Amino acid sequence: MESFLIKGGVPLHGDIVVSGSKNAALPIMAAALLTDEPCVIRRVPDLSDTRFMLKILESLGARAEFAGGAATLHARKIQGYADYELVRKMRGSICIAGPLLARLRKARVSLPGGCVIGARPINLHLKGFESLGAKIKIEGGYVEASAKKLVGNSVFLGGRAGPTVLGTANVMMAATLGEGITVIESAACEPEVMDLAKFLNAMGAQISGAGSPTITIAGVEKLHGAEHEVIPDRIEAATFLAAAGATNGEVTLRGACAEHLRAVVDKLNEAGVAVERRGANLVARRKGKLKPADITTLPYAGFPTDVQAQMMSLLALAPGISIITERIFESRFMHVSELARLGADIEIEGPSAIVKGGRPLSGAPVMASDLRASAALVIAGLAAKGETQVNRIYHLDRGYEQMDAKLQKLGARIERVEER
Ligand code: EPZ
Repeated sequence: MESFLIKGGVPLHGDIVVSGSKNAALPIMAAALLTDEPCVIRRVPDLSDTRFMLKILESLGARAEFAGGAATLHARKIQGYADYELVRKMRGSICIAGPLLARLRKARVSLPGGCVIGARPINLHLKGFESLGAKIKIEGGYVEASAKKLVGNSVFLGGRAGPTVLGTANVMMAATLGEGITVIESAACEPEVMDLAKFLNAMGAQISGAGSPTITIAGVEKLHGAEHEVIPDRIEAATFLAAAGATNGEVTLRGACAEHLRAVVDKLNEAGVAVERRGANLVARRKGKLKPADITTLPYAGFPTDVQAQMMSLLALAPGISIITERIFESRFMHVSELARLGADIEIEGPSAIVKGGRPLSGAPVMASDLRASAALVIAGLAAKGETQVNRIYHLDRGYEQMDAKLQKLGARIERVEER
């Protein structure tokens, strides 16, 4: 297993290009199952998750090629059930269920199960499929959805923590080939949902309202092939903006979408990190001392849960008390105990973490537990004095394209090594 070895204390300087969005690419790749014609998806980040999705599409019978950031997908003839182990390993693959149900009127996929950040049920996905007339059966670790026909209907998809991103994506895709009009209420408004709707409409779907809590889908008989360029990864962008602030450097992001980052930029600003637009680029650097800030994670356009951990590393350096409240996932503080190894002073009180910031961090061996927690450990390691070893970086490779090469380009002393 591989680790990152980081010699901290170097301010990051320079510019990098933001990759395509993992969380947009995954459902968009799955959407290619909706047609028997070829689709070309560009700016697909080269990650273990996107390569996993390619394998899953191939296991369903599709032809899948990936080169130079472009995925060429052709689901001419496919089957309705995917390899149990493949789907079980990557939660995001649940979004093949909607396209399979729409195209074949049946889908059999392994239940995704929980992960370290929470139980992550799919009850809302299934509620959506049932509202279109599908019968749901859960057996042997599989969920099976089947329907003689799918009929448009209204469905409310709000849950315990508000809307569901992949649930909205799945029901939207299932409804594209249904009969009549489907209205999704309390839909997720994330840019990734909007990007998926844009691709589906390019395939001939009739979707309006994506990006708002009410999405309307007028079912069509058939969809055709299409080409699409995935939006930039706002979570990767936010990670590098926080790293610039944590190392007291100046980083230019090329190709980031400022509109998608408003809540993040607002909190960075509050914490003493200025983020300004220079033409099509975003430039981040400290303005004076870091300051504490309170953060509550919320559905989009609120502060993203996928940036909570990275901001915690930054705020651990800001003298004063910051309160970070996680409202989306019930156990997304795995990074707290590892940040404490680097000297951070953080206490968990229910859904909140109380960060007593300002203590200098010092390097130590730490363990990654999930994708965004690992990014937080890298940021803390870059800011810490001495050497930090971040173990199990396979978590990072799931969602960050060439993170070490990009950081090296910004002057970081980081290298990928075999775990010792
Ligand atoms: C997507 O996951 C992202 N993953 C996650 O990013 C992100 O954290 C999450 O949205 C929230 O923004 C991908 O897009 C591949 P949800 P998703 O359904 O769709 C509850 C990363 O780091 N819920 O919006 O699976 C659920 O338990 C990953 O890149 C139900 O109760 O998340 C959670 O508390 C991590 N029932 C909340 O809703 C359901 O049927 C939001 O989950 C579905 C969800």
